[in-house]
Amino acid sequence: MDWGMKNRMSRIIRPETGKTLMLAVDHGYFMGPTSGLEDLENTLLPLLPYADVLMPTRGGLRNCVPAETDIPIMLRVSSGTSILNETHLLHEGQSVSVEDAIRLNVAGVAFSILVGQPYERDTILGMSQVVDWGERYGIPVLAVTAVGKGLGKDARYLSLASRMAAELGARIVKTYYCEDFEKVVNSCPVPIVIAGGKKMPEMDAMQMAYDALQAGAIGVDMGRNIFQAENPAAMIQSVRAIVHQNYTPQEAMELLESLKNKSE
Ligand code: R5P
Repeated sequence: MDWGMKNRMSRIIRPETGKTLMLAVDHGYFMGPTSGLEDLENTLLPLLPYADVLMPTRGGLRNCVPAETDIPIMLRVSSGTSILNETHLLHEGQSVSVEDAIRLNVAGVAFSILVGQPYERDTILGMSQVVDWGERYGIPVLAVTAVGKGLGKDARYLSLASRMAAELGARIVKTYYCEDFEKVVNSCPVPIVIAGGKKMPEMDAMQMAYDALQAGAIGVDMGRNIFQAENPAAMIQSVRAIVHQNYTPQEAMELLESLKNKSE
């Protein structure tokens, strides 16, 4: 692995723990002003001190994140549909050039592949092209898998999608937690992070993050369960304690309540 790729990977996955907490705020590229992200700048800025990586769109980055901010960027570089396009949700292609990714000084780029969907071929070939320039310039590709409806997010499907992403050259895979998740991890030769998915009770989100890490995930790339939380800053700090300090869900919930009380 070239020095540049190693350096970027070490900015994404913290060397001191081998783990990462990514804050996902790229939802607007197909969901618009989704709940909790209506005011993107004022939502994400207070959370940055507790995230290892920020995952924005290029518009979100340029318009809402000060260039002086010291946080590695995992840039969303695929798009193409919106939530209004029910039949072809996430028929995505490359929507950011390598030049713009380099201009934005990114640590990595994120591309969605839709395994098992009608347009899977387009997304797979699109990511492969991004892997080509990512490897050329030392920029790791994070494959976003299994976003969408009716995909049957069980270990069999997630193992298929994650392994395909790794075989196609993704350096990191983002997928979802599931029962028998260790099967997904053990059949994927690159690091896996889990997305949080739709907002769930805070204890459930903590348990999911903990279980995923116990099963071998190297972290989370969480959005809605943080920015839609009652107290996002308290929530991200509590999830961070699970990721980097091996807190149990119970310990993390105690921290959450303590931080909430302090902020009141
Ligand atoms: C969806 O495609 C976006 O890429 C999000 O980054 C991803 O779903 C993670 O966010 P959340 O934890 O809200 O699911």
